[in-house]
Amino acid sequence: MLKPEIFATAEHLHHAAADLCVNRCSAAIATQGAFHLALSGGTTPKALFRLLASMEYRQQINWENVHVYFGDERFVPHNHNDSNYKMAKDTLLDNVPCRPENIHPIDTAVDSAQTAAAFYSKTLTTHLPKNSQGRHEFDLILLGLGPDGHTASLFPDTLALKEMDKICTAVFVEKFNSWRITMTYPIINAAKEILLLSEGEGKANIVYDLLITEKDTTRYPVQRIKPAGRMSWFIDEAATKKLT
Ligand code: 6PG
Repeated sequence: MLKPEIFATAEHLHHAAADLCVNRCSAAIATQGAFHLALSGGTTPKALFRLLASMEYRQQINWENVHVYFGDERFVPHNHNDSNYKMAKDTLLDNVPCRPENIHPIDTAVDSAQTAAAFYSKTLTTHLPKNSQGRHEFDLILLGLGPDGHTASLFPDTLALKEMDKICTAVFVEKFNSWRITMTYPIINAAKEILLLSEGEGKANIVYDLLITEKDTTRYPVQRIKPAGRMSWFIDEAATKKLT
């Protein structure tokens, strides 16, 4: 497993992540006129999204040319408190001048998670540029890490882990008794860059497992994230509690 960069506090981690987003966005817009960014869900990214929308950072990003996508989504309405779209809208998208047509949520107002996944695959292939190998590629994908080693909604022991053709799929998560939609390994690993964020004591056990007990395995879904491009793993000291 990739060696993480450790930050003294969550705040330091958020600033480092925001600085990386600003840097990559500027570079992408300078070279291709657009920045294609996939957001992670859950709670970890909320502070980063609020920071990106703050006076300190908002002006540093040319939001007009930023395309925003979602690495995964819960199969709930967009106004539901569990919606990753709602979280991103509340913390970031309502507070920066992204063009509405450049915000690409996973449409959950359909009959099934499978339909939502099929539609999103079409959204991705419609809007994402292709690289020289003809693969649709993101400039940057933000990912989180669950205590069970999942990332996006690639949960252990699910068929989503085996999906090597579709770039987006539906997955039923037993422990949450709910459906999700997730990008799959093929498109995630085709990205130019991935930034994996993990913070807090709640992630100390999985961080320990990934770096010590299972460091040379692919037991956890996150261990199969190996992008063609760059990958960074930012953690705070609280998440290293079990290591020290
Ligand atoms: C989601 C996320 C998921 C998340 C991890 C960590 O939809 O929940 O995409 O992969 O990143 O579950 O979640 P926390 O940041 O809430 O710990």
